[in-house]
Amino acid sequence: MDKSELIRLAREASKKAYCPYSNFSVGAALISRQGQVYTGANVENASYGLTICAERAAVVKAVNAGDMELDTLCLCGSGEEYIYPCGACLQVLAEFAPDLKVIVTDRRGNLREHQLIELLPFQFQFNVEEKTL
Ligand code: THU
Repeated sequence: MDKSELIRLAREASKKAYCPYSNFSVGAALISRQGQVYTGANVENASYGLTICAERAAVVKAVNAGDMELDTLCLCGSGEEYIYPCGACLQVLAEFAPDLKVIVTDRRGNLREHQLIELLPFQFQFNVEEKTL
């Protein structure tokens, strides 16, 4: 799938955002190595901290479909400027795809391409083997 199609899917997904508090809609399109696309949009809550970001909505769909090998995330927001994934979403994405490609866009349709490792160079890793009781 080409990048413009992935951007179109992310923008389309943003139309399903539930964002009455911020009025800022975000859409994510996540493509797996198998070529499957999972989309998500932000879902806000009256208790603001319970808001679910678009990227996390998309990654949960992919993982629940048993498709954990993720290739590229594309993000679109309703603001003028480039939209970057928040820190919490970067950490969640890193759990499944430390080498994920991340495409961010602005409202005019310009894009920038990054690697997750650039955006979150020191990812928290929990080594179960090292866990002591
Ligand atoms: N938001 C996302 O969906 N993804 C991000 O990475 C940053 C922020 C949403 C959450 C909230 O609904 C709105 O943008 C404003 O913060």
